Amino acid sequence: MILSDDEKRMLDGSCGPGVQKAMELQVALGKAFDAERMIDVSRAHVALSGQEGDTYWCELLVNGGAVCRVTPTTNPCWDVRNLTNHYGVSQAELDLALRTIDVYRRIGARLTFCCTPELAGNVPSFGEHVAFSESSATPYVNSVLGARSSRESSVSALAAAVTGKTPLYGLHFEENRRGTLLVDVDFWPGEPYDWGLLGWCIGEFAGSAVPVLRFRHMPRRPSPEALLYLGAELNTSGAVAMYHIVGVTPEAPTLEAAFGGNPVPASSRPIVMADLKAKEEELSEEGGPINLVMLGCPHYSHDQIRELEVLMRGRKVRDGVAFWVLTSFDALELAERSGERRRLEEAGVRLVPDTCIDEPCWKSFEGGLGVTDSPKCMYYRERRGQPFVVRRLAECVEAAVKGEVQ
Ligand code: F3S
Repeated sequence: MILSDDEKRMLDGSCGPGVQKAMELQVALGKAFDAERMIDVSRAHVALSGQEGDTYWCELLVNGGAVCRVTPTTNPCWDVRNLTNHYGVSQAELDLALRTIDVYRRIGARLTFCCTPELAGNVPSFGEHVAFSESSATPYVNSVLGARSSRESSVSALAAAVTGKTPLYGLHFEENRRGTLLVDVDFWPGEPYDWGLLGWCIGEFAGSAVPVLRFRHMPRRPSPEALLYLGAELNTSGAVAMYHIVGVTPEAPTLEAAFGGNPVPASSRPIVMADLKAKEEELSEEGGPINLVMLGCPHYSHDQIRELEVLMRGRKVRDGVAFWVLTSFDALELAERSGERRRLEEAGVRLVPDTCIDEPCWKSFEGGLGVTDSPKCMYYRERRGQPFVVRRLAECVEAAVKGEVQ
């Protein structure tokens, strides 16, 4: 790779061993992807997980004197002040979470602990080169905002935050952002839930392609939450870091533009609403009594909290069922000020910031049946030993009130 003098100094250790480690990783990554050089990044988001590997990497850098040149926002770990009082975690699990918080503070990250920074707080502009990890965030910044990010890991995104650089490859090039797969959709998805299931269906066959979605009807523009859910699931069942929607996303004003002048490929059988219902059944465990309703993967926006509050009016969560909504600190603050938090808590629904579904603080539910509106939540929770049923929001509320799901 051709490196600038500044990059060479980082690589030879002149800026300290922490920065050197970060640059070594980025040079190795660049070589793996045949990058000729580095480029500057103006923003970063690090998908820290509070798991040993990520925390070790951050400690390695900060103990070697590294601090971030580009202040990154951070993904959630878990709310140690709040959830520790509710559920049993081991001292080792608590210590790891506290170490994670401490080390990211020391390296100079902005401790947002939120997985939707692209909606508020860290919003790139069109054409901006950035390093965003987090499977729901990367497709959003590329596809919806038109910024340019590789499909970064937490490790490579932190390295980018430290050096202010990223190897120039992949989606940083215009030609790699063009569509490679045409997907016809025969219906208009109503709720973010439907967009999520659609994303899961497409991700299964798209792999790492750049799918172009062409809708037969488009009665209105999809909401930010709908596009967030679409990308989150495309990048969970598949490895899709960028997609286009003809007439919606900024690099796809027309079908031809979405493919950048390349020949438009033939599409396979259009996806129909019945495919979503079949996928819901396939992903879900058998119904029965539940012990948990879990929403907010990705983190619920304030609009979603408001919608839930309306659905819960006059109703109560059944005894023996925990109902948790994971959200960002700013959406929580709005819900506090606007009264939704109090009303939801009176109904038995609790909101929590700073927290991911894939954390040890939820382990006391393992073995029991959960309900969620997020296939991504189902996927990660089942790996930890809790079966889930996937249902739209209104059905999650019904399940919470009845204590069981059909
Ligand atoms: Fe957010 Fe964790 Fe889901 S980071 S998107 S709550 S897996």
